[in-house]
Amino acid sequence: MELTRHEQALLAGDQGRAVRKSMEILVALGEIYGAQRLTPVSSVQIAGVSYDNLGEAGLQFLEEMAAGGGEARVLATLNPAGMDVENWEALGIEKEFARQQQRVIEAFSRMKVVATCTCTPYLTGNLPAQGEHIAWAESSAVCYANSVLGARTNREGGPSALAAALTGRTAEYGYHLAENRLPDLTVEIQIDVTGTHQFGALGKAIGERMQAGKSKTPYILGISQVSLEELKSFCASLATYGGAALFHMAGVTPEAGSLGPPQERITIAQDDLEGAIADLNDASPEEVDFVSLGCPHLTIAEIARIAELLRGRKVQREFWITTARPTKQLADRMGYTEVIEASGAKFAADTCCVVAPIRGRFKALATDSAKACYYAYSKNRFKTLFKSFDEVVFEALRPLSDRPES
Ligand code: F3S
Repeated sequence: MELTRHEQALLAGDQGRAVRKSMEILVALGEIYGAQRLTPVSSVQIAGVSYDNLGEAGLQFLEEMAAGGGEARVLATLNPAGMDVENWEALGIEKEFARQQQRVIEAFSRMKVVATCTCTPYLTGNLPAQGEHIAWAESSAVCYANSVLGARTNREGGPSALAAALTGRTAEYGYHLAENRLPDLTVEIQIDVTGTHQFGALGKAIGERMQAGKSKTPYILGISQVSLEELKSFCASLATYGGAALFHMAGVTPEAGSLGPPQERITIAQDDLEGAIADLNDASPEEVDFVSLGCPHLTIAEIARIAELLRGRKVQREFWITTARPTKQLADRMGYTEVIEASGAKFAADTCCVVAPIRGRFKALATDSAKACYYAYSKNRFKTLFKSFDEVVFEALRPLSDRPES
């Protein structure tokens, strides 16, 4: 790899241990993936924040990087942590876990990483423009950044994203290069798709066909209208089930207009969508003891809708509303928090139902997120009830007497 004189000095340790280590990580990755050089990045999003995933070794690595003088050189934000940093006790998080999680966040804060712990950084001020090179880690956000914003990022790991933050650079390979951003499969949607739940199912249906055909980048035709909320659900699902970091959608993806749809073509019909929905429903409504909305993290419009549905009512099951802290603060100011908390539902800002340490606490999760269903089973062994956004709120409200006697 060609390094500038300045980069060589960073690699030699001129700016301290943490920067040297970061350069070693970036150069090693660049060599593995055949990068010619490093490229400057304007924005970073770091995953590997939950202590549940990091463990002691991960925490030690972060504390060493902080002690080694690491400081973010560009805007850098965090993925969700393992708990709401202000409200962890109400969510049933153990004291010892909270202590370790706090140490993780303090290490990042010492490195001047902005501790908004969210998988939707684009909703809270970390919003790159078209063509910007960035280094993001959360798979749903990577897919959103490449496909909706038109920014350019690979799916970084936790250490490589931190290395990008501390040096302001990343290795130039993969989705940073125009030739790797071309579509290889046309997907024709032959049905109307609406709501976060259906767009999540669509992401699963396409993602599984991509995996089967070894496609990386679909070109999607036939979606006439799609909201931000639907796109974030679709991105999360397509990344989970298809490993996609980029799709082109006519009318959405900035680059799609200049690219033609590829020859190889598949279609998605009603049966495909219904099959994907059926696959994610292995729990009966009576089994549901946990309800969560906010995978990916909720927008303020979604929180407003939850407040509207919960006003004056009482939830009957543990119900987590997961969102970024700044969005929660907006909900506080709008009066939504008061309405939602009066119902017994709980805000779980900074975290989510996947990265929090809740294995063994519940039996079945109701959600509108296809991604949450995947991890609810694979990480926590929960059954899932996969419903539309409003139906999920109604699941939280459904009287317990509907449940069978145990
Ligand atoms: Fe975000 Fe957690 Fe879902 S990180 S995308 S809410 S699994």
